[in-house]
Amino acid sequence: MERMRVRSARYREANGAPPRAFVLTFGCQQNEADSEKLSGMAQAMGYTLCDRPDEADLIVVNTCAIREHAEKKALSTVGQYKHLKARRPGMIIAVCGCMTSQAHRLEELKHRYPYVDLVFGTSAVERFPELLDGHLTQGRRLFVPLEEQPPMAEGCPVCRSSSYRAWVSVMYGCNNFCSYCIVPYVRGRERSRSREAILGEVRGLVQSGYRDITLLGQNVNSYGRDAGGSCGFPGLLAELDRIPGDYHLRFMTSHPKDASRELIDVMASSAHVAHQFHLPLQSGSDEILRRMNRRYTAAQYLETVAYMRERMPDVTLSSDIIVGFPGETEADFEATLDMLRRVRFDLLYSFIYSPRKGTPAAAMEHQIPRAVQQERFDRLLALQKQIGQEINNNLLGRPLRVLCDGVSKSNPSLYSGRTEGNKIAFFEGSPADVGQFVTFEAARADAFALYGHKR
Ligand code: SAH
Ligand code: SF4
Ligand code: F3S
Repeated sequence: MERMRVRSARYREANGAPPRAFVLTFGCQQNEADSEKLSGMAQAMGYTLCDRPDEADLIVVNTCAIREHAEKKALSTVGQYKHLKARRPGMIIAVCGCMTSQAHRLEELKHRYPYVDLVFGTSAVERFPELLDGHLTQGRRLFVPLEEQPPMAEGCPVCRSSSYRAWVSVMYGCNNFCSYCIVPYVRGRERSRSREAILGEVRGLVQSGYRDITLLGQNVNSYGRDAGGSCGFPGLLAELDRIPGDYHLRFMTSHPKDASRELIDVMASSAHVAHQFHLPLQSGSDEILRRMNRRYTAAQYLETVAYMRERMPDVTLSSDIIVGFPGETEADFEATLDMLRRVRFDLLYSFIYSPRKGTPAAAMEHQIPRAVQQERFDRLLALQKQIGQEINNNLLGRPLRVLCDGVSKSNPSLYSGRTEGNKIAFFEGSPADVGQFVTFEAARADAFALYGHKR
């Protein structure tokens, strides 16, 4: 930190006014959490954060690689910054995250985007000040590839984007190697933070008034299996739950092969853990699940759900589905639809399979034509829409606890918030509600949101 302040003093001297930084984030909550660190470090170095790239002295693009579309968006955004840099040659452009953690993308940025100054992988996030300093002092472009087992960094400054909702990473990386997924290649091996560090962070957040805290990891159930943690995830959750205060704890993501009864028991008997579970199914066909390397069957998944509902009848259940995995037959897809009918998810995140370079599935035979994928995707969405609508209709007229987020972006005449089950609620609110729990009653619902009033 001391070194950062020294540097920031130098920036101020050079420019007169504090320089401005713009941080743009693609991808999942892990990336959001990394960007909060990047913003925190930029502030500690003397930058003021801004929300327009054309006003920035430093642009950081934190990229995602989960599907082709995510990479295309990131690359086209970086492409658009070429003319900004031409207008302001002193501007620094940094690109980081999951996309740049792949060697071929690092090379591509090096050779085809000569105006990009700094490129680094997910393992170097905490080294951002040192890398920026290196670029400034040496005056040359820097490229830092992914390190699979970087040392655990604690104490990084964080600039949180909300004062009542927070992300807390409990572990990094993934060892599961689902055959379609790029994450294990771009986030390295599993590394758990120490229990003490996590407890300290969550305690601090609760004391500062945070009301909704989401524990993050690619598979939180792996927490503590490496050397870092001294207890498993259910133990960690139980210990966090003892922190007194008015707040909700959530976690994501939990892999169905490891979602244990012990974890469900801790949730059911906890004071603060929201009765909400995101449990990615991916497919309802055992043969596809096997080729996805998911290591559970549809029947095992149903058993987990049955136990969850037995212990928590009010649990909200969401899932991820991949449509059109290589070799998916009409019967395989029907098995997925069948699982939707049996489980009846509250919410579904559905994706068309996207081949990722270097993953086993990308080399599999019988890739499914785009038109077939799209047709199945549309059928999946239509079925889920009907189920989601029916489930939400059952919530009408009941009191629900909602954490208010403020004026809705999509409907500025209303306020929006999230229920304990993480459903979106719209209502007439006031500025005093923001960041507070309100009691809400839904009068109308669609498949994705509830509309109503405060009680
Ligand atoms: N660790 C989490 C998932 C992270 S990725 C888990 O295991 O649940 C989020 C979702 O993106 C996945 O659940 C999957 O449904 C989807 N996804 C991952 N790779 C994909 C690919 N190559 N094509 C399409 N969807 C993909
Ligand atoms: Fe990807 Fe599977 Fe790891 Fe999730 S558990 S991040 S889907 S490899
Ligand atoms: Fe997340 Fe995308 Fe990386 S989904 S882990 S930011 S590949």
